[in-house]
Amino acid sequence: MRIDINSPIEPSTGTILDDTRIRSHIATIEELSESKLVLLAHQSRPGLEDFTTLEAHSHRLAELLGREVRYVDDVFGRAAREEIFRLRRGEVLMLENVRFCSEEVAEEVKSKPPEIQATTNLVRKLSSYVEAYVNDAFAVAHRSQPSVVAFPMVLPSYAGKLLEREVENLTKVLKSNDKPKVFSFGGAKAKDSLKVMEKLLSKGIADVVLTSGMVANVFLLAQGKDIGEVNLRAMKEKGFDSLVEKAKKLLEKYGEKIQVPIDLAFKRDGSRAEASVDEMPNLMIMDIGIDTIARYSNIIENAAIVAANGPAGVFEIKEFALGSQELLKAMSRCRGFTVIGGGHLAAIAAKQGLREKISFISTGGKAMLLFLAGEKLPGIEVLREARGYD
Ligand code: 3PG
Repeated sequence: MRIDINSPIEPSTGTILDDTRIRSHIATIEELSESKLVLLAHQSRPGLEDFTTLEAHSHRLAELLGREVRYVDDVFGRAAREEIFRLRRGEVLMLENVRFCSEEVAEEVKSKPPEIQATTNLVRKLSSYVEAYVNDAFAVAHRSQPSVVAFPMVLPSYAGKLLEREVENLTKVLKSNDKPKVFSFGGAKAKDSLKVMEKLLSKGIADVVLTSGMVANVFLLAQGKDIGEVNLRAMKEKGFDSLVEKAKKLLEKYGEKIQVPIDLAFKRDGSRAEASVDEMPNLMIMDIGIDTIARYSNIIENAAIVAANGPAGVFEIKEFALGSQELLKAMSRCRGFTVIGGGHLAAIAAKQGLREKISFISTGGKAMLLFLAGEKLPGIEVLREARGYD
């Protein structure tokens, strides 16, 4: 079974900071408690600080399940295959981070159709040791990678309970004709966010887009604002300055539909200071300001549908969690259907005791947004074809 337990990790200690995604698969794992269950998953991407083994994940899963979860530091080599062969009914085995295998991450493989990806060593070796494939990994369903799209080419394949629940709930949002539909984009994945935003706007799905976090910085630059040397440098380091042209075009085309912060919060002498976007100090941008919070909250409260992904600021520092907390509170007051995605917002909502007040908490980040933009997700499409689902 492919699961998505990609979790926030403290790089220096390897501690898993939030286990929501691990918990999200418990129901499907329990449903398969009569099987010999092999779990396949990833953590982060090669080159990033939190790209690490799944050993700690397997321990956490064992604690949550209240039974043993075996772990092998191998994906499809002899050690992994021997462990799979030795499994007995009711036992669970977690394989190593599948992105340790070059075939899972190589452009040359990912760009090929699922039938070709099924000829990888990863898929050929593992599929000969198992009888069926279950995909429960909604959060990675937008990636065309062997562990996500190729097994259904060679094995009887099924959707897990979590994947089903995600599709059911998000389909409600997608099919709804209620307006206005508001999408809130925060966090650091500006490139991904811009791509999804463009789809949502060009298809007329989004009535309003709220920007915060790194995404907002890109739009502030596109508006010609002086964001200060320190922020400019941080964006250049991440290669985000190249997104500014795209943001300019989006602003020209969609104008007011894209909301950009009017004020921001900065760290001055260790505490929160605010300024208008027209008079920004040369200090690190840490959050949206209170006028922006008020404006965005008003839009959210009056929406028929709200989907939010990514925090509005550096929420890990208490003073700068305000924007994310207030936008979530506005969602909890909204009478429409509200959805949040991505691990960070879910963690903030849990801390604020707001989980129950959000209509649906998706385990997906980009997968959720793409689904809501009406895009076909490769991991789901291969299952539909394999199983003839609607
Ligand atoms: C996520 O965290 O969004 C999923 O696990 C997918 O991860 P990726 O963006 O590294 O493919």
